[in-house]
This record gives sequence, C-alpha cells and structure tokens, in this order.
Amino acid sequence: MIEVLLVEDDIQVAKSIKDFLQRKFSVHLALTAEEALEVLQEKNFSVVLCDLKLPGMSGLELLQKMRTLGISTPFIIITAFGDIPTAVAATKLGASDFIRKGDITPEELIRKIESLVDESDWEFVFGSETMRNLLKVARQVAKTDSTVLILGESGVGKEMLAKYIHKASPRAGRPFIAVNMSAIPDTLLEAELFGYEKGAFTGAERRKPGKFELADGGTLLLDEIGDMPLHLQPKILRVIQEKKVERLGQYSQNPIKIDVRIICTTNRDIEKLVKEGKFREDLFYRISVIPIRIPPLRERRDDIIPLTKYFLKKLSTKYEVNISMSEKSYEKLLNYDWPGNVRELQNVVERAFILSWTGGKESIITPESIVFSSYEIQNINLNKTDGKEISEGKETINYEKKNISALSGFQTSLTDDLNIKNMEKVFILKALERTGGNKTRAAKLLGITVRTLRNKLKELKLEESEKSKEDEEE
Ligand SMILES: Nc1ncnc2c1ncn2[C@@H]1O[C@H](COP(=O)(O)OP(=O)(O)OP(=O)(O)O)[C@@H](O)[C@H]1O
Ligand SMILES: [Mg+2]
Repeated sequence: MIEVLLVEDDIQVAKSIKDFLQRKFSVHLALTAEEALEVLQEKNFSVVLCDLKLPGMSGLELLQKMRTLGISTPFIIITAFGDIPTAVAATKLGASDFIRKGDITPEELIRKIESLVDESDWEFVFGSETMRNLLKVARQVAKTDSTVLILGESGVGKEMLAKYIHKASPRAGRPFIAVNMSAIPDTLLEAELFGYEKGAFTGAERRKPGKFELADGGTLLLDEIGDMPLHLQPKILRVIQEKKVERLGQYSQNPIKIDVRIICTTNRDIEKLVKEGKFREDLFYRISVIPIRIPPLRERRDDIIPLTKYFLKKLSTKYEVNISMSEKSYEKLLNYDWPGNVRELQNVVERAFILSWTGGKESIITPESIVFSSYEIQNINLNKTDGKEISEGKETINYEKKNISALSGFQTSLTDDLNIKNMEKVFILKALERTGGNKTRAAKLLGITVRTLRNKLKELKLEESEKSKEDEEE
C-alpha cells in the first residue's frame, strides 16, 4: 500500500486532495512542516506531498531537514505559484518533483505518485568494466546479511551503492534508513540511533523509536561512520553483535530485538583513524567484513558519458525541453579529473544545462557552458605557464594559484541554492576563464571596473584562499 504524507495548511485544499488520493492510497495529513517532521521520524512513508508555503517551517526547509536526518522519502512540492527558480532550488535539495496547484488533474497526480514510488527515481548508471564488476560483487553481497563497508572519495556514489545493495537484497520491500554521522550533532546522535522513552531526558515528552528500530527488517546505513564519536562506538558495536537495542531511559528491562542489515560508508582513511586511536579497532573489524571501495571517477572514465547523458535526460524530462551536448563538450568532460567525482559531474551538467537554456525547447550545450570548479584555473596554470613562464603578468598566476581551492567551495554553494550571487560567480568565473585569468579584460567583458571585480572576488570569497586551502588539505 502506498502511504502518502500530505503536508498542507489550508484545510479546504488539504481535504480535497486527501479525498481523491484516498481512493488509491493511504493518506496521512499534517497541517504544518513541524508536525510532518515528527511523523516522518516515527513512520516510513512512500512519498511526501508538501505545500511550499506553510505557517512555520517552509516546505523547502522541511525537505532540507529531512535530508540532513537521512530521511530519503521521495518529496513532491505543491505550490500555487510555481516557477523555474524555485523548482531548481527544490530539486537541488532533492525534491523529486514540483507541481502547481490547478495545473494537474487528480488522475495525473495519482499517476505521478505511482510512477515515482515505482521507480523511486533513481538508477545506478555506469559504463565502465570496473563498475560492472563492482556491481556484480554488490549483488552477490546483497543476498547475505553481512555488514558492508563502502569506501571511496566524496561524491563517488557510496550512498547510491548502499541503496543498490538494499534494493538487490531480500530486504528490498522493507525500509532503507540512512543516518549521517557527520550531519547530526554528537549530543543528539545517540537518541537518534537508539530512540528514547518518555522522560529519558528533559524534553523527551514522549517515546520515540530510534533508527535501528525503524530499520527493522530492512537496511540501516551508517553514513560517514568515520565521524562517529568515540564514546558511541562501543554501544554501536554491542547492537551489531547482539542484535538488540535499548532505548535511552529504558534500563534494559526488555531490549528490543532487531533484524537489521548494516551498511557503513566513509570517505576517510579509516585504518589511519584506527592507528591514531580515533576509531575503535574492534568496531572497525566488525564493520569491515566486506569492504567495497568505489574508485574515483577519474579512474573509470567510461562512466562519464553515460552519467552525463543520464543527468541531461533527467533534466530535459523535468523541464520538458530537449537539451543535448556537443562532441567538443563531451571531450571537455572526458579530459577533466573530477576531484568531486559524480556529484561534481552532476553539478557541472546542471550548470551547463541552465547556462545553455535560452528559453526555447531545444538547445545544445557548448564547451563554454561547461564551467568546472577548479579545472579552468589549474589548466591555465599548466598550459599557459608551463610551470614557469606566464603570459599575462604576475597577478594572473597569483590569482590562479590562490583560487584553486576557493573554487571548490563554489561548487558546494551552487548545490545548496541557486541565488543571484551564485549566478554572479558563474559569470565572473566564465569571464576569467575566457580571458585566461586576466582581471582587466575580464572586467571589460563583464562591463564593470577592475575595482568592482576585485571587490566582488573578495565578497564572493573567490580570493580568500588561505582557509579553504587548509580545509582542502585536511
Ligand atoms: N552511478 C551513479 N548513477 C547515477 N547517479 C549517481 C551515481 N553515482 C553517484 N550518483 C549521484 O551523485 C551524487 C553523489 O552520490 P552519493 O551521495 O551516493 O555519493 P557519496 O559517495 O555518498 O558522497 P559523499 O561522500 O559526499 O557523501 C548523488 O546525487 C547521486 O545520485
Ligand atoms: Mg554519502
């Protein structure tokens, strides 16, 4: 049975939507985002159908909160005033779809929900032999209940692979629950994982099941396990070994039996953490029964084109346009090193899509619209300076060196939202790219003074490199 969580504050609208959805699905109504967040933590839904404008927390904020808490339920936004920027912002946050009130018939909405739940809107895309073999191993592992440790750089698809294993396992019909160790504050993590009884601590007004319990019969993803605080590690180890959890404040009267397959991921060098005493050796051995390392995208370049085509197709379908890519653009993608892996590729494709979309139904992405986060700058350094000589004066090379790391930050911020500042960044970067990093010419291109450009570079943190450099080296 498909279970829909409808979040809508207008009782009239809510009632009418609920009435027709109830013909096919079970529908739970929440009048505020806060209320929705509560129930989402207690129960698994097939899909959330959420109004954008709500009295307290907005629909977008709810979506953001859900994703930080690892609740990956498909999310459809309903709004009275839909427009492309909001749609883009919503999809960047992971919304599956966006509908305008009045734009869609009840039958269409029902069909949309059904198809969304069916395909769950994702596919593990690959073209390389490496990934083909890796997925073969994953399917093999999926048949068992063994704990799996997925390793790999940031953005390679660790969470995707965890889901893939779940879907390929006999547990596929049961919940898949992800908890991100680095996103939840240490103080809340224990209560999140184990749940609590009423009165367990100040503020525990009612009983709340933990993620272990919620994942019962299914799969629990302990995402970024390398960031799990040391004091929690022995407790986790005990749960994994004994297959029982105790809610906080329960005093071990009846530990709850659970049947959960555990998958862990980390992008950190966990063996090093063990050596440094930052990760318990016993837990490490327990979770690394089956380690799978996903290679970085640059080591499986045959995946680049299939992934690009897939991301383009998804965007084209969503916005009902037909945007393709020129051969030269593909070449540009193939020649890049992808430090941010598949996530970076996805961002670059989306950015190119937006920059090339002139408003019509068809368009072709040319290499100019492909803006990498760090590549242009690095490349200019290599090609133009050949390590020593520079053509555009000293300032150019300073700019290039300083910004390699600052630009990686840009990639993240573009994922988070699509505001004017980010578009400004895109244009400034494009101008600098075209002029080989020469600020005077870039400013001319942009129609602003060099002074303004400098100020903007500072303001947009494109010049403040010391801190981000440190971050990157960590
Ligand atoms: N093989 C793939 N096919 C389709 N999409 C993919 C694939 N691999 C990764 N992605 C997409 O790339 C993004 C990053 O993937 P994912 O979150 O699984 O990576 P990760 O390794 O967990 O990253 P991080 O270390 O940053 O948490 C997601 O949006 C995901 O949907
Ligand atoms: Mg991840």
